[in-house]
Amino acid sequence: VNELETIQVKIHDLARGGSGVAKLDTGEIVFVPFTAPGDEVKIRITQKSKSYSQAELVELVHSSPIRAVPPCKVFTVCGGCAWQHLPYSLQFETKKKGLHQTLKRSGLKFDEISIDEMPAAEQNHYHYRNRIQLRGNPEQKTLGFYVRESTRIVAIDRCEVAVEPINQHLPEIRSAGSKEFAQEYKVEVELASDKTVRHAFNQRHAAFGFRQVNDEQNIALQKWVSDHAGSDALLLDLYGGFGNLSLPLASRFKAIHCVDLSVPEKRPATTPAHFAFHQSSVLGWLKKQNARNSQSATVLLDPPREGLGGEFAQIERLLTKSFAVKTLILIGCDVDSFARDASRFQAAGYQLKKLAALDLFPQTPHLESLALFTK
Ligand SMILES: C[S@@+](CC[C@H](N)C(=O)[O-])C[C@H]1O[C@@H](n2cnc3c(N)ncnc32)[C@H](O)[C@@H]1O
Repeated sequence: VNELETIQVKIHDLARGGSGVAKLDTGEIVFVPFTAPGDEVKIRITQKSKSYSQAELVELVHSSPIRAVPPCKVFTVCGGCAWQHLPYSLQFETKKKGLHQTLKRSGLKFDEISIDEMPAAEQNHYHYRNRIQLRGNPEQKTLGFYVRESTRIVAIDRCEVAVEPINQHLPEIRSAGSKEFAQEYKVEVELASDKTVRHAFNQRHAAFGFRQVNDEQNIALQKWVSDHAGSDALLLDLYGGFGNLSLPLASRFKAIHCVDLSVPEKRPATTPAHFAFHQSSVLGWLKKQNARNSQSATVLLDPPREGLGGEFAQIERLLTKSFAVKTLILIGCDVDSFARDASRFQAAGYQLKKLAALDLFPQTPHLESLALFTK
């Protein structure tokens, strides 16, 4: 197939990365963003590799009966959502299947282990994000998101996955940003836990400290961790941020160490005395643990998108050397890096007991995954 030629295909599946999937007469697999299983579409191939091609949608010839009406005016232009045209049930089903396949491919053995499924509740399919990051153009007095695969800005009035109080504040932020800056600016807007909306111009990502973006699903995340963490002498909350996952467990442990590059600037007054924040990289903190602590320990590991990556071997070795790890809960927001880390823990002698799939990000292909290991 010529790269400029338009061809008509039927979409038969949805890929875990977000695109609809078609198979050409030649047997070639093609991924087409913003299509739905059952669609008949005209497409143009944009990129070819050995085993598959990428294409763009040129025309929707027959629309699949499963298609939903996207509520957002800039859906498909904005780089945010991928799935507003699909029913939520198919979104979650696809994420779960994707997790299953990725775990299998990683070599993880889990045949007898069921995956706890925690889809978002219906009222939470939209208007769930408590934090969004926008770009402003002061010349045009617009505020928006980056266009997909581009650094051009598409202007918006509102974001359908953001909580309503954030949307209500956008006009005020747009006007303040247009006055304050001469060039493109970045702004992060957050609905704080005290229900006030705050914003930060041109700061690093998560300017107010990391916080899970979906409050309702964060409660489900905290509950799963709480249900499986048990009680022990020691709790290590590695990549613990502000203690989101460990503070609710404080009464069940004798000592808690929460380690993160970014911890609260001021220790909150309500923090229990046996709870310690350590502002450090996880690897740096583990390297400093010289004497072995023989008390039995529960470990929570909630790294950023890349997972433990190249530091896995060092982190695992230092954990085992310095602590008597009994329970380990691994959490990841990227299925590929999560699967890689989970299979490496299993290979290092940790026994996999449970898995869970939790949807913090409806309308996108992202999935939060959890694994419980014991030693
Ligand atoms: C997915 S968040 C988890 C935060 C926390 N568990 C929660 O539920 O709010 C990942 C965290 O890792 C932190 N981080 C990133 N790289 C790190 C590193 N090398 N060492 C320690 N913390 C790191 C970030 O600051 C962020 O708070």
